Amino acid sequence: MSRRFKVGVIGCGIGRSHIVEGYVPHADKYEVTALCDLDETRLNTVADEFGVVRRTRFSDELMADPEIDIIDICTPPALHTKLVLQALQAGKHVVCEKPLTGSLSEVDEVRRAESGSKGLLMPIFQYRYGEGVAQAKRIIDSGLAGKPYAATAETFWRRTADYYDNPWRGRWSTELGGVLMTHAIHLHDMLTYLLGPIERVFARTDTRVNAIEVEDCVSASLLMKNGALASLTATLGAAEEISRLHLAFEHVTFESNHAAYSPGDGPWRITPASDEAGEKIRALIADNPPIGRRFNGQMEAFYAALVEGSQPPVTSEDARRALELVTAIYHSSETHSDVILPLSETHPKYNSWRP
Ligand SMILES: NC(=O)c1ccc[n+]([C@@H]2O[C@H](COP(=O)([O-])OP(=O)(O)OC[C@H]3O[C@@H](n4cnc5c(N)ncnc54)[C@H](O)[C@@H]3O)[C@@H](O)[C@H]2O)c1
Repeated sequence: MSRRFKVGVIGCGIGRSHIVEGYVPHADKYEVTALCDLDETRLNTVADEFGVVRRTRFSDELMADPEIDIIDICTPPALHTKLVLQALQAGKHVVCEKPLTGSLSEVDEVRRAESGSKGLLMPIFQYRYGEGVAQAKRIIDSGLAGKPYAATAETFWRRTADYYDNPWRGRWSTELGGVLMTHAIHLHDMLTYLLGPIERVFARTDTRVNAIEVEDCVSASLLMKNGALASLTATLGAAEEISRLHLAFEHVTFESNHAAYSPGDGPWRITPASDEAGEKIRALIADNPPIGRRFNGQMEAFYAALVEGSQPPVTSEDARRALELVTAIYHSSETHSDVILPLSETHPKYNSWRP
């Protein structure tokens, strides 16, 4: 019989979606055995919904429980680093919501702890999972797309005052950033997942939509290591919500679907530049295996890594790359300068990206 991993979830907001989309559909692979939340009403509501008996307000209890294999961290951002370090120290496998940490120095600390722990660490980037993004990834990696030319990533979402009626949102000390950190990070991760590392960043950020401390509008110009030029735009003031990736290569142009919270889903518009390229692309993706979407796909891929003891499908290096882009954008916006990546411990924002 295949191994079933016991999961303890900390934080029952998005944690509930991890259960609904990620664990319940894979009941042969995972069993959520414990829930933790400071808010007892929320804790009991979610625990009742899924029949979870073990409930606690104290995350330390889950860390110390030898029955739990995986700690899934879904608390507000400023608590992630401490809980990840604690869980790795306890020898648990760890799933953690974005952002993984609150600075590049913290992400490097977490990566050192990870290399000394028997647990695997998987940051959440569920937007990578869907039929559309899987097809694009396969075409690009096969070489059929050819030379990458240019790309745009648009995160046009809407957040109003009621969204900020939650004490951790909208503040540097607790949310750790704005649209860049909490919302656009997904599409930006998809962009680097498909186009690879970034070489240079120039950016502007501003707070134009809501009465909050952190930014809610961003515009950035990127030079990718492979030579492609990319533009990122993000706002929380859109009347109609969309997420859209648009990537032009020598032999094919990709446009993601526009679903704000699942742009990785199929179908994507895949437009070959010639009949010949079209035939090759159709033949290549004809046998693409079915893939789960969002948390479903990511938790399925994590299971394979857990069983094989191999690298998780999303790594702490991916999280570092995402946080390096965030840091570079804040630094560029503050200094009106081009920022060259990678950012090491000598960078002025290595220990904190806050203004
Ligand atoms: N991947 C995604 O698409 C996605 C979507 C939403 C949120 N998130 C991320 O998930 C995290 C949580 O966001 P949310 O929207 O669920 O927030 P939320 O405020 O709705 O829920 C957080 C929960 O954590 C609980 N909590 C706080 N401190 C705790 C502690 N010390 N111990 C136990 N429980 C504690 C709170 O009581 C609350 O119920 C954030 O990092 C956010 O960026 C990711």
